[in-house]
Amino acid sequence: MKIKFVLNGQTITINKNPSEKLSVFLREKKLAGYKEGCLNHSCTACTVLLDDVPVQSCLTSLAQCDNCKITTLDEFKKTEEFADIKKGFEQAKVRMCGFCNAGKVFIANEIIMYRTKAFSIYLSTPFILLWQMGNPRSAKAKVHLSM
Ligand code: FES
Repeated sequence: MKIKFVLNGQTITINKNPSEKLSVFLREKKLAGYKEGCLNHSCTACTVLLDDVPVQSCLTSLAQCDNCKITTLDEFKKTEEFADIKKGFEQAKVRMCGFCNAGKVFIANEIIMYRTKAFSIYLSTPFILLWQMGNPRSAKAKVHLSM
């Protein structure tokens, strides 16, 4: 099946099995900002933006990407939003170890952009984010530091 999407600003058309995971395709692209971990919806390392919504690429099929825009952390790092989040993380002493940065950054961005909507549409990851940020009770304040 032919699948067309925009990856980090570049239009790409591929002929692949539509059930293949986006993570497999991104791994082949060898992007510096793309990482994989559990491949099982637990670690958030593989998070990308699919039409500006964070998704875990290990759970996302290529069919779901057809005619969509995919943004990896490589591209998002060029934005003012990333600079603000990075600054907020530094002020809040949120560690950016390199492994799960995409999950932390994209979910923080979702929370900042849409507040509570992020919690309802993306149930498990915010809790992982809160856990990674340390004390869950102060996590909300930490995210707000990046605004
Ligand atoms: S690799 Fe861990 S959630 Fe996708």
